[in-house]
Order: sequence, then C-alpha cells, then structure tokens
Amino acid sequence: MAPSPRDTAVAMYDHLPSLTAVAVSAFRALADDPARPGEALDPLAHRVLPWPVGAATEALRAPARHEPLRSLLRWGLLGLSDHVVLRTLAIDHAVRDALTAGCRQLVVLGAGFDTRAGRLPALAAVPTWEVDHAATQRFKRRVPLGDHVRLVTVDFARDDLAARLVDAGFDAATPTVWIWEGVTPYLPAAATVATLDVVSALSAPDSQLLVTYATPEMSSLADRLRGGRAERLRVVGHLGFRALGEPLAGLVPTEVFHAVLAHHGWSVTDDSDAPTWSRRWQPDRAPVLVIHERLAVATRRSPSA
Ligand SMILES: C[S@@+](CC[C@H](N)C(=O)[O-])C[C@H]1O[C@@H](n2cnc3c(N)ncnc32)[C@H](O)[C@@H]1O
Repeated sequence: MAPSPRDTAVAMYDHLPSLTAVAVSAFRALADDPARPGEALDPLAHRVLPWPVGAATEALRAPARHEPLRSLLRWGLLGLSDHVVLRTLAIDHAVRDALTAGCRQLVVLGAGFDTRAGRLPALAAVPTWEVDHAATQRFKRRVPLGDHVRLVTVDFARDDLAARLVDAGFDAATPTVWIWEGVTPYLPAAATVATLDVVSALSAPDSQLLVTYATPEMSSLADRLRGGRAERLRVVGHLGFRALGEPLAGLVPTEVFHAVLAHHGWSVTDDSDAPTWSRRWQPDRAPVLVIHERLAVATRRSPSA
C-alpha cells in the first residue's frame, strides 16, 4: 500500500536527536537575555543539549569569546540565530499573557530542547506536557525540568496524540496554552491538520494556541533576488534542511493557515514576524535577514460563538 502523506513526516535520522532542535537550543544558549544583560536567554540549554554541543555552548559563553562568536553566528547563519532568539522572546511573552488570561496548563508540541517549563518563573507550578519523538526525548529525560513536567512520546505523523496526552494526565476541561514552535514547517499539511484536529478537540474555551508557520517565500534574501536566482536559493535552503534529516514539508501562505485555524474554531488575535518581535522585545537585535516564519496567536472560541 502506498504511504499516506502523514506517513512521510518522519525524521530521517531516527536514532539521533532532532538536529534542528539542537541548533535552535544552541542559539538560545549563546544569546543574551535582553531583560538581564550578560545572562543567557536560556541558562538551562547547555544542560539539556547533548554533549558535546552543551559543553561547547557553555564554554563559548565566556564573555571574552562571546561577542565575536555572536557576530559570526549572526552573519554566517544569515539571520537564522536572530530569528530563533526573537521567536523565543515573542513566545515567552505570549505564554505569560496566556497565563494571565486564564490558561492553567501547558502543552509544548515538538518541544525539542525547549526549557521554558524550567526557566520561566511563571510556569514553575503550571502542569506541562512536552511532546516529541523518542530520539530527542532520550536526551531531554536526563535533565528533568521539574516535577510539573511530563514527557509524552509522539510522532505527529503516526501516533494518537490525544490518547497519549490523556493517558499522561492531561485535562481537556482546563484552559490550555499550546506552544507549537518551529515544528509545522517540517510537517506535511495532513500531519499539521491531523494534529490541529486533536489540539482543537482537547482545548477548552479560551485556550490559546501559539503556533509558528513558515510561508513559501522562505527568506528576505530570496525576496531580494529575482526569478531563477531566487528559486535556486530556495532549492538550496530546502536541500540544507533535507540534509539535516528534517525537510521543509509544510510551507503555507498566511491566508491559508489562518483559514485552517478558523475552520478548527480558533480566532487569530495576533500574527507577527521577526521584525515585529524585534521592535516589541529587542530593538537592538533587528534580524540581519528576515526568515519568513510567523507566529500566530489564536484563542479557542466557545462552541456557541
Ligand atoms: C526546529 S525543532 C523545534 C524545537 C522546539 N520547539 C524549539 O523551538 O526549540 C522541531 C522539533 O519538532 C519535532 N518534530 C518534527 N516532526 C515531528 C513529528 N512528526 N513528531 C514529533 N515531533 C516532531 C522535532 O523532533 C524537533 O524537536
């Protein structure tokens, strides 16, 4: 039988942790927290990251070596590290807002090496479920982020997310904030929609979904080039992610993504990109190049609305 589209959404290197998750966590480990100058944005990252990446990020944070490395990263990675750091800041703020608005539990979908549950004081007592592949969670399990955090092993393309969450104690009657950061670009549309079906069915009214998605343009560098050169650059970008074992299978225009959210009963209250995150949370870190991944913040409508 031919594989369904959902079946194709499998990390190519099943025995390795997600390499994109390692990379984005390393960027956070090396970045400063704008609210606490000189402190790492993610002081727990080097502990959860696999050795030797964790050891390298800790060593490289030494002040004397940090600035040159940061500049090298910013320019060498064509804006990717800026993008990830700003994305994390934006979602940190959105999570706090969601808790203030009444959400009382957190699910992190495709959590990778996200350490929010351990590093944000506002989440210290919030029941949290982190969902990801077994290969990535094998490393995450070695450094627990707290008794309030449970790791739930799920492949979005194959497994029953709802059953696994409920088995792990998730309460569908409690307003939930869902974080789905940097994951949908790697999922075929069918896997994203199937996951959204579950997330929506498990979301009490006033739950919030913080989800990033990437649009087909990919980056402002491609925007600046014309015709064939822009297309070739996009092909190179696709090949790069494919080589990491995580092909970009789910790029989607904004209007289509919003329509899918609306169809699932979500109202988009904010949709923003990296320049906006920079203006809001770190004006001195305007991204050197804009990656076209956006953050949609959506609220679950009550059934009667
Ligand atoms: C770019 S990383 C982002 C990790 C984390 N959200 C962050 O921003 O630090 C993508 C994550 O999605 C997870 N992922 C991708 N496809 C998945 C699937 N089909 N099922 C479960 N997890 C998946 C990967 O294992 C990885 O941890």
